[in-house]
Amino acid sequence: MNVIRFSDLCANGQAAGQRVFIRADLNVPQADDGSITEDTRIRASVPCIQMALAAGAAVMVTSHLGRPTEGEFKPEDSLAPVAKRLGELLGREVPLIANWVDGVKLEPGQLVLLENCRVNLGEKKNNEDLARKMAALCDIYVNDAFGTAHRAEGTTYGIAQFAPVACAGPLLAAEIDAIGKALANPKRPLVAIVAGSKVSTKLTILKSLSQNVDQLIVGGGIANTFMLAAGLNIGKSLAEPDLVDQAKAVIAAMKARGEKLGDASIAVPIPTDVVTAKTFSADAVATVKKANEVADDDLILDIGPETAARLATQLKQAGTIVWNGPVGVFEFAAFENGTKVIAQAIAESSAFSIAGGGDTLAAIAKYGIEQQVGYISTGGGAFLEILEGKTLPAFEILAKRAAG
Ligand code: 3PG
Repeated sequence: MNVIRFSDLCANGQAAGQRVFIRADLNVPQADDGSITEDTRIRASVPCIQMALAAGAAVMVTSHLGRPTEGEFKPEDSLAPVAKRLGELLGREVPLIANWVDGVKLEPGQLVLLENCRVNLGEKKNNEDLARKMAALCDIYVNDAFGTAHRAEGTTYGIAQFAPVACAGPLLAAEIDAIGKALANPKRPLVAIVAGSKVSTKLTILKSLSQNVDQLIVGGGIANTFMLAAGLNIGKSLAEPDLVDQAKAVIAAMKARGEKLGDASIAVPIPTDVVTAKTFSADAVATVKKANEVADDDLILDIGPETAARLATQLKQAGTIVWNGPVGVFEFAAFENGTKVIAQAIAESSAFSIAGGGDTLAAIAKYGIEQQVGYISTGGGAFLEILEGKTLPAFEILAKRAAG
């Protein structure tokens, strides 16, 4: 996707002395007392801000935090904890500005954080008056908020329509590049892991990926529904029996593509063994069983060692890996093996790997493989929409602006 890159503008000296408006995604989880419990997104926003300051720009940064009611600012909506953390990371004070839509006084070299943009009336519905006012605040608009790239809101879309220049920040550009490498021009075989509790929440992703990937590995409750589709008993396991036909359609689509290409490895690998328990608890007794020996009172909580080893071999032979979701209840030690083996295989594979989605990041952190994953996406919903094959609004408008 062709977009203007902020890094190019900075390198060419075009940002010097300019008013730069950065839309970041600083929507971080907070404890009840407002303290930040996980600051990845704040850390990920730092390179763009530093790039703008180093280029001699006057820098405004904003983000949403949560889903506040527009026009009703409450203390818990404030970006104050974010300003503090950002200040620590940048080693300078970051003043927080409220009521900023009608004007921000700022000199080159200065940096301010503009209060939660979702409190502004018209932000969510991308009101044109608001977008034009925000665009008038800057010479260069930079979208560096991949996590919000699937929203066509005032600060992610409207402002990009009207700002003199609209470009992608380094984080957004890196996400565009990684996604392109993984999905548009992948080195094959391309293996996707899609796991999670429900087929219904990821059906569009499964359908979309079944048109492109060479192996579609399913895990968690999603795998249980696929096992049902393959005619296996899954006992009391979490599944969606009403979506069995949809699962069958995904299996058939992969098989048909494989037949057309004369490649039998193009498939949805169904587990051949599983780890079961009688209750869903951390201290439940774990029993490894053949996939066709699951009892009526069993709960499947992980893939079995034979399946994990086979999938690990496929992952090690892959050219590209897309990972969304742990394959078992990896939070419980007795049911973590499948996810651990998959994580280690991804780490050891020479494939380019891209991973995203909340639980996936938790698994990556648990097994300490951050450095071995090719790209870890900061997007939750945005990452999932990319996997669905959608063009995200933020990308679409930046590409349009780049085209002139
Ligand atoms: C996220 O946390 O996924 C992003 O910040 C987007 O938030 P939203 O779903 O409230 O738009």
